[in-house]
Amino acid sequence: KMRGLLVLATLACFAAAQHQALIDYLEQRLLAIEGRITLWHEQTARYASELRDLKLQMLSQLENLDKEKEALRTSLDGVGTRVDRVERELDYLETQNGVQPCVDVDDKLIEQQVTLVQEKQKAKYIRLSDCSDMISSIKAMKILKRVGGPKGMWTKDVGQGSGKVYVFNGTDEDTVYQFSSAQDFTRSPGTSLSTGVKLPLAWRGTGHVVYNNHLYYLSQAEEIQVIKYNIANGSVTDAAVFPAQDHVPVYSLNPETMMDLAVDEEGLWVVYATQQNERHISLAKMDAASLGIEQMWDTNCPRENAEAAFVICGTLYVAYNTRQPGRSRIQCVFDVNGMVSNEEAPLVYFPKRYGAHSSLKYNPQEQLLYAWDDGYQILYKLVLKKKQEI
Ligand SMILES: *[C@@H]1O[C@H](CO)[C@@H](O)[C@H](O)[C@H]1NC(C)=O
Ligand SMILES: *[C@@H]1O[C@H](CO)[C@@H](O)[C@H](O)[C@H]1NC(C)=O
Repeated sequence: KMRGLLVLATLACFAAAQHQALIDYLEQRLLAIEGRITLWHEQTARYASELRDLKLQMLSQLENLDKEKEALRTSLDGVGTRVDRVERELDYLETQNGVQPCVDVDDKLIEQQVTLVQEKQKAKYIRLSDCSDMISSIKAMKILKRVGGPKGMWTKDVGQGSGKVYVFNGTDEDTVYQFSSAQDFTRSPGTSLSTGVKLPLAWRGTGHVVYNNHLYYLSQAEEIQVIKYNIANGSVTDAAVFPAQDHVPVYSLNPETMMDLAVDEEGLWVVYATQQNERHISLAKMDAASLGIEQMWDTNCPRENAEAAFVICGTLYVAYNTRQPGRSRIQCVFDVNGMVSNEEAPLVYFPKRYGAHSSLKYNPQEQLLYAWDDGYQILYKLVLKKKQEI
């Protein structure tokens, strides 16, 4: 019986102990849950306050946005009024000037820019040259007479001048034939109606000009000289050694002519060649009063097969012998203003003639070329046109 009681007590004890453990366990769980609830409460409170702050911020920003929107609306209204006004003004202008579509406005702008470019080019062009003519074709040819040898040159005084005609027969003489007019020259048997002008030094080649009552002729002793000779009182006004060394004949088909002078609307030019640029012809602008050189250019015109050249409005035209017998043509041009290129230059053939040109002298007043062709004195009437403006 006693043992039975002991067992019961032990069992009760056991049960009690188990109960206590359960209570302890539950208490711990509750504590843990409470802790988490507290934590959660804290977090919620924090979130709530953050949310509140955010809401406040949002509110104030919304207010700002409202204000900005208002300001924007006001300024947009202002712009709208101005657009309206501009539109009204445009309408008014259109009624004044007729309707001009937008495309035309663009074209106008481009046109204006093109005009601007053209003005600039013109300015550059005017600075270098006052005239804008270029050769278009040879309109007519007139053989005036035959006097003298195969080589020589003849010309009228190309200045504002006398109208007198001068004949340089040969390439190494000292007496020029002077005729008082072209008619006298034509009707004169030989040189009988002329007066002789005897020069202090013999000329060399065919590169001379007569300009404003002065002979500008080339003489060669040790050096090539340009001599300016006053015809009226028979005195040498000036003489200058051309400032280039190692001259070579400027045209391969006329080896006696080392240098060639030319007169155009701009004044006096020198066509020459040196060993430094042996294969090509060079050009220089010479001051007719002082014989000083103003500017020099190397051209792309070859000396090979060239027979003569002349200048019109700052453009050099070089005549070459062609393979066809008795024909020569202008085959190379050089424009100091860069307005005429070889591609743009017209193909100009000289009419059929006798031998070879030993000189071609341009007269700007008459638009005539005075040519010497195997002793024949020939006039070519030129047709000029305006240089193309881009
Ligand atoms: C022209 O010069 C040649 C030599 O080149 C000469 O034979 C001829 O007689 C000269 N003629 C005149 C008219 O001077
Ligand atoms: C020739 O005429 C020019 C210009 O008229 C003058 O300057 C020069 O002195 C004259 N010469 C002679 C030798 O008379």
